[in-house]
Amino acid sequence: MAEITFSKKSLERYEWLLTRYPSKEAVLLPALHLAEEEFENIGVKEMKYVADLIGIPPARVYGVLTFYTHFRRAGCGKYHIQVCSTLSCALRGSHEVYQRISERLGIEAGETTPCGRFTLSKVECLGSCDTAPMLQMNDDYHEGLDLELVDQLIEQWRAELPEGGSS
Ligand code: FES
Repeated sequence: MAEITFSKKSLERYEWLLTRYPSKEAVLLPALHLAEEEFENIGVKEMKYVADLIGIPPARVYGVLTFYTHFRRAGCGKYHIQVCSTLSCALRGSHEVYQRISERLGIEAGETTPCGRFTLSKVECLGSCDTAPMLQMNDDYHEGLDLELVDQLIEQWRAELPEGGSS
């Protein structure tokens, strides 16, 4: 028996997705989104659960999960800050944006704050080049950034999720 399972609502959603995609394999991305919603982070047991559910090898799930940067993987902080570092953003100051966040949170790309609130990543183009520089925090885009706006965002996020807060 699986250690974890989707809720009835998520299973119904998964069944509906199966009717919308041409193959079980094609439903992998939306199934991973469902897993992220259901379990918050996706680790080994969540990957295995999705693989078993779809009927594909866990290695296939792992490959997709690690290819796309936007999934929240196990060990990821509650707030996942992804700073775009591709050309348009780089030309408009994404390095300074990254540096400011890194200094203020005391972490580098790929690291999570000791309190578990924030994870910082550098990512490739997020498709919002006309509003560079930009970052994605969980599902939200923050665009047209300058250092003042970055400071405001960090204060806002800290206020929303005080140290020791669990959600
Ligand atoms: S280069 Fe940053 S969003 Fe495209």
